[in-house]
Amino acid sequence: MQEEISIKDLRKVYKTGTAALKGVTLSIEKGDFFALLGPNGAGKTTLIGILAGLVVKTGGEVSVFGSSIDKDPVTTKSHIGLVPQEFNFNIFEKVIDIVVDQAGFYGIPRKEALARAENILKDLGLWEKRNEPSQQLSGGMKRRLMIARALIHHPRLLLLDEPTAGVDVEMRHGMWDFLRKMNQGGMTIVLTTHYLEEAEKLSRTVAMINKGEIVLNEPMAGLLARHGGKKLENIYLDLIKQDNEQPS
Ligand SMILES: Nc1ncnc2c1ncn2[C@@H]1O[C@H](COP(=O)(O)OP(=O)(O)OP(=O)(O)O)[C@@H](O)[C@H]1O
Ligand SMILES: [Mg+2]
Repeated sequence: MQEEISIKDLRKVYKTGTAALKGVTLSIEKGDFFALLGPNGAGKTTLIGILAGLVVKTGGEVSVFGSSIDKDPVTTKSHIGLVPQEFNFNIFEKVIDIVVDQAGFYGIPRKEALARAENILKDLGLWEKRNEPSQQLSGGMKRRLMIARALIHHPRLLLLDEPTAGVDVEMRHGMWDFLRKMNQGGMTIVLTTHYLEEAEKLSRTVAMINKGEIVLNEPMAGLLARHGGKKLENIYLDLIKQDNEQPS
C-alpha cells in the first residue's frame, strides 16, 4: 500500500473562470510535518478543500495513504481531519456537542465519543468550557475547538488551514507543542500559515505555491542551509517576488 499523500497534476477552475490550481504535483510522506505556504489567493485553501472532499477538482489525481478520492471517497475522508480557515460550527451549540456530534458522522458510538471528547478537550484546555455555547469562546479557543473536532475520529492526516490566525503568542506556543506531540505520535500534518516563523519552527518539509503553481518543494533544513542563515520569511519574499516578475 502506498504510504503517502499523492497529488498529481491537480487542477481547479472555479465556475467564475478563476484557475486556482494549475497542475499541482506533490508527494507528502507519511509522518511528515508539511508546510504549504503562499500569498493570499495562491490556492492553498482550494488544495486543502480538494483533499478534504469539500471542493470538486477539475482534473488530476489525489490519493491519501493509498485511497483514491475518486474511487474511495469514504475511506479517504476517514483518514483526514480538517481544521478549516473559517469558523464553521453552530455558534449556539455547546462545545462538547460540537465535538461529539462530529464523531457521529464517522459512526463512532456516543459513549466512545464522549470519552474521546473528554481527553481531547482536556488536552486542548477546553474541558472547563465544555458546556458553553461556542459563541462564548474567544477567537483562540474557537481555533482549538476546531482542532478538537478534527481529531475526534483519530485521523491519520491532519489538515490545518491557518490554525493560528488571531491566536495570541502564548496560546500559539501551546498549539505548537500540541501539534508537535501529535506529529511525534505518528500523525501526518499539512499546515498552511502566513506566519513564516511558525512554519520554520514546526515543519520538516516546505512547499510554496504561487498563482496556483508549486514554485518550491523541499526539506526545510536543506532550504535553510542552502540560503546560509537567512530566515524563511526572507527566502519566501525573494522567491515570490522573483516568481511574480516572470511572465505568467
Ligand atoms: N468558491 C470560489 N469561487 C470562485 N473563486 C474562488 C472560490 N474560492 C476561491 N476562489 C479563488 O481561487 C483562488 C485561490 O483561492 P484560495 O482560497 O484557494 O487561496 P488561499 O491560498 O487559500 O488564500 P488565503 O491565503 O487568502 O487564504 C483565488 O483567486 C480565489 O479568489
Ligand atoms: Mg486560504
